[in-house]
Amino acid sequence: MPGARAAIYLARVNWEAWRGEFPILARTNYLNSCSLGALSRRAEARIAQFHNEWHTLGASAWYEIWLGRLAELRGRVARMLNATEQEIGLAASVSAALTVIASALDYRRRPRVVLGALDFPTLAYQWLVRRDVEVVILESDDGATIDPQRFAEAVDDRTALVATSHVYYTTGAIQDLRALADIAHAKGALFLVDAYQSAGQVPCDVRAADADIFIAGPLKWLMGGPGLSYVYVRESLIRELEPQCAGWFGARDQFAFDTRHFEFREDARRFELGTPALPTVHAALGAQEIVDEIGVDRIRDRNARLAEMLIERVRAEGFAVRCAADAAQRSAIVMVAHDEPEAAVRHLAERGIIVDHRPGFVRISPHFYNTEEEIEHVTHELAATRHPA
Ligand SMILES: Cc1ncc(COP(=O)(O)O)c(C=O)c1O
Repeated sequence: MPGARAAIYLARVNWEAWRGEFPILARTNYLNSCSLGALSRRAEARIAQFHNEWHTLGASAWYEIWLGRLAELRGRVARMLNATEQEIGLAASVSAALTVIASALDYRRRPRVVLGALDFPTLAYQWLVRRDVEVVILESDDGATIDPQRFAEAVDDRTALVATSHVYYTTGAIQDLRALADIAHAKGALFLVDAYQSAGQVPCDVRAADADIFIAGPLKWLMGGPGLSYVYVRESLIRELEPQCAGWFGARDQFAFDTRHFEFREDARRFELGTPALPTVHAALGAQEIVDEIGVDRIRDRNARLAEMLIERVRAEGFAVRCAADAAQRSAIVMVAHDEPEAAVRHLAERGIIVDHRPGFVRISPHFYNTEEEIEHVTHELAATRHPA
């Protein structure tokens, strides 16, 4: 029913009402969702449900309930990414997911891995530790983005993989994934996306992006807390990838308890290792319900409005902002240049405003639950750090 879907999309979201879901918002001006998304009552209720089942059923809840919850989470994540449930595996962190994938690639004829200087370091570390891999790190010309042309020049027929972020944690810039996938695929390389800073704030579509591997997790914009990550691998690639590490969750027949033989599962659960963090699985499910109910498209609209307002206000106060030149390429991670970022973050914290710092910058990351008043508030207090009364 496309008409009904359009009507739902056009229906106005009562953003103020959603704020009641997040107790931290009553206590602070919380503007650090790119580090840790706010805890919701729904996530908390799902954790309480898990605790209650643990109290009453103990280990029998595994078979009766909890394995089903893992499937529920893989299914919700798959729908959000426009993937199938068979293409989603769970890992303990983005680093752990990357380690499994890095161990599965064949570098003999293709020893090169290409990534960007603005990517999160853990992405590079997977390949820097390998003696059989030549890591090529591309520089940014404007400090905020990396021109796809730089990727085109670096990727050759010795390249196994292009690995980069959907949204740069350093600048909030959103990359043109399809352009990068085309560059990788034209040379026969695979394309891996670190989507930790995009999933939940920017629409993610693995098919439109033509990504081969797409890694996300609930910690940040998906508001599900630490201890988990999501690994998408394209259906036709799954069986080609045999990791050099394994665990019983990735075994074809997990409950056969066959010590002498190991065969990988046929689906993306072959990239799973051991028992996942169930409290996080439950928190992530509760928070994912909220994301799914609102819809990432609407969250993106809302966040873009708050982020653009913030950029405009802090610039009016004389601060420089490191961001993409084109507003369409900006997300809700706003890097405000500051001479003393740590002191500024402390000043803001003393006034109930939670933000973060990176060398040379105060990092402010509003999410849909923030308000325009909170943007005015942080701007005002940030200005005070430059012009003490
Ligand atoms: C883009 C990005 N990738 C990876 C990581 C690290 O993830 P993990 O701690 O799950 O390995 C972070 C952490 O902030 C990040 O921002």
